[in-house]
Amino acid sequence: MAGPSRLEKTLFRLQSQHACLAWAFEEISGRAGPVIELGLGLGRTFDHLRRNLGDRAIYVFDRVNAAYPECQPDPALLFLGEIEETLPALHQSLAGKVVLANSDLGSFDRESNHRVADMSGRLLPSVMAPGGIIMSDLPLNLGGFEEVDLPPGAQQGCYYLYRRAG
Ligand SMILES: C[S@@+](CC[C@H](N)C(=O)[O-])C[C@H]1O[C@@H](n2cnc3c(N)ncnc32)[C@H](O)[C@@H]1O
Repeated sequence: MAGPSRLEKTLFRLQSQHACLAWAFEEISGRAGPVIELGLGLGRTFDHLRRNLGDRAIYVFDRVNAAYPECQPDPALLFLGEIEETLPALHQSLAGKVVLANSDLGSFDRESNHRVADMSGRLLPSVMAPGGIIMSDLPLNLGGFEEVDLPPGAQQGCYYLYRRAG
């Protein structure tokens, strides 16, 4: 069979996410503002975020909390439910302030990927600070953002980086 295996696709996505996170940590260092994780999942990315972002507020979203016990977010910053509802509910406190958002909502279900990418593209722009970075495991259609070249270690088509103009 041609093309990468599922194991390789997962490996390349995680390697790319890791490289993009390292790049993003540098980009936002010295810039105040909260961070958003869309898709807590098992809490692996959240654990990496909190280890690298000191005491920065990390707002975490998922429909369920299935994170490892040692990867639990601050309950005050964990928003359970459909992101279509939980993220807009925070609009007043987050609008224009988020310096880094990681949209990690993809799966091997094409239709679901289409839906969540559309949702992130609609809901994230208004909460982002000028110059804020959006990382995504799916390509996003984002008005007012430029796509940023991937850093070394990230593979084309495995992760996506965008920066808000301004
Ligand atoms: C790929 S996993 C996230 C992996 C996670 N970042 C980690 O490190 O373990 C995607 C997560 O997104 C959540 N999700 C997908 N669509 C959602 C939606 N519309 N609202 C809330 N959660 C959603 C799923 O429940 C799932 O836990």
